[in-house]
Amino acid sequence: MAAQPDPEHFREVFGRFATGVAVITGAGPAGAGGMTANALCSLSLEPLLVLVCFANQARTLPIVREAGRFGINLLAAGQEELAGVFASKLPEAEKLQAVAHQLVAGVPIVTGAHAWAACELRELIAGGDHTVAIGEVVGLGLGGGEPLLWYAGRYHSLPPHP
Ligand SMILES: Cc1cc2nc3c(=O)[nH]c(=O)nc-3n(C[C@H](O)[C@H](O)[C@H](O)COP(=O)(O)O)c2cc1C
Repeated sequence: MAAQPDPEHFREVFGRFATGVAVITGAGPAGAGGMTANALCSLSLEPLLVLVCFANQARTLPIVREAGRFGINLLAAGQEELAGVFASKLPEAEKLQAVAHQLVAGVPIVTGAHAWAACELRELIAGGDHTVAIGEVVGLGLGGGEPLLWYAGRYHSLPPHP
């Protein structure tokens, strides 16, 4: 039987959509910081576009809006603690101070990321209590290791290869 949709059921249903885990970063006139996110996907090949969904109250959103660019750091297995830092409400400036990173194409890229993209902000679109940011990719890179995964409200790793 289909239950009446509500936010809790919505979370449970979409929690079954297994994803990777990213840290979205920004650095500019409004400061530097970042947030853990899994509501993101590739959008277009021509031009190269991605989208990221920011909660309207996320402190990273004004940073990205002011900077006009953002970084997507796809985390590697073993970076759960780093994901916890960026999912927290630590003072924004302390988050990036707590992790090794470097500026690439004007965006912070964390050391040890499984893969990353640097994006120029193209559009912000209202979507309920979130804002969809569309970015054009201006830099891409691959790191090592295996991906960190998120499923049913918990971090996971890929099972060992057979
Ligand atoms: C696995 C995971 C995925 C998340 N995905 C998102 C997301 O896609 N968008 C979002 O706005 N917040 C997401 N969050 C919550 C933010 O990381 C959290 O609200 C964070 O404190 C925001 O930081 P900020 O206020 O410094 O921007 C996620 C958290 C976790 C642990």
